[in-house]
Amino acid sequence: MEKSYQRLIKNNKEWVAEQLQLDPTFFEKLSNGQAPEYLWIGCSDSRVPAESITGTDPGEMFVHRNIANMVVHSDMNMLSVLSYAVDVLKVKHIIVCGHYGCGGVMAAMKNQQFGLIDNWLRHIKDVYRYYHVELDAIEDETLRARRFVEVNVQEQVFDLGKTSIVQNAWKREQPLHIHGWVYDIHDGLINDLGVNFTCPKDLHNVYHLD
Ligand code: CO
Repeated sequence: MEKSYQRLIKNNKEWVAEQLQLDPTFFEKLSNGQAPEYLWIGCSDSRVPAESITGTDPGEMFVHRNIANMVVHSDMNMLSVLSYAVDVLKVKHIIVCGHYGCGGVMAAMKNQQFGLIDNWLRHIKDVYRYYHVELDAIEDETLRARRFVEVNVQEQVFDLGKTSIVQNAWKREQPLHIHGWVYDIHDGLINDLGVNFTCPKDLHNVYHLD
């Protein structure tokens, strides 16, 4: 009997054949290098595949995913991705995309211990604290969780703006827009939160770097 993971290798062979049929130079072109216009910072959740939901092809999007699409300023992995995307690839847009029904965000609302991951969830709890007046006023737990997902995305957008990587790009007048989106796993639609962050003026002065 075919093992479940063998299906993936079989799919891969079919996918290669399909791509070559559409464009015989598909892999040749991709092997020459990448020039993606977008950096995607999304959740690791298996239901939110960055390329599928945005209809983007290989080569179009540089991707970083972690639990609850966090921008943690001491995370070397995230910082390395951000630095390479901004300084070398010169992406024009960074999209932080959260999703309603995010397990990480919902766990951060609770007091239960989950083990090592609690250290990661604490960054999300900090966001709750910033917005506790608004969030505590929402009685319905599902609605409160949805709003928490949105404000969490908004905070991660601001956290990107606080990095020297993004501020230096803006300083050298490199076009760089930061967007905050939320994907709805119930209907597949993306909700643009309307944050189009292009300069540090929206940040408290203490975060401005000379
Ligand atoms: Co999630």
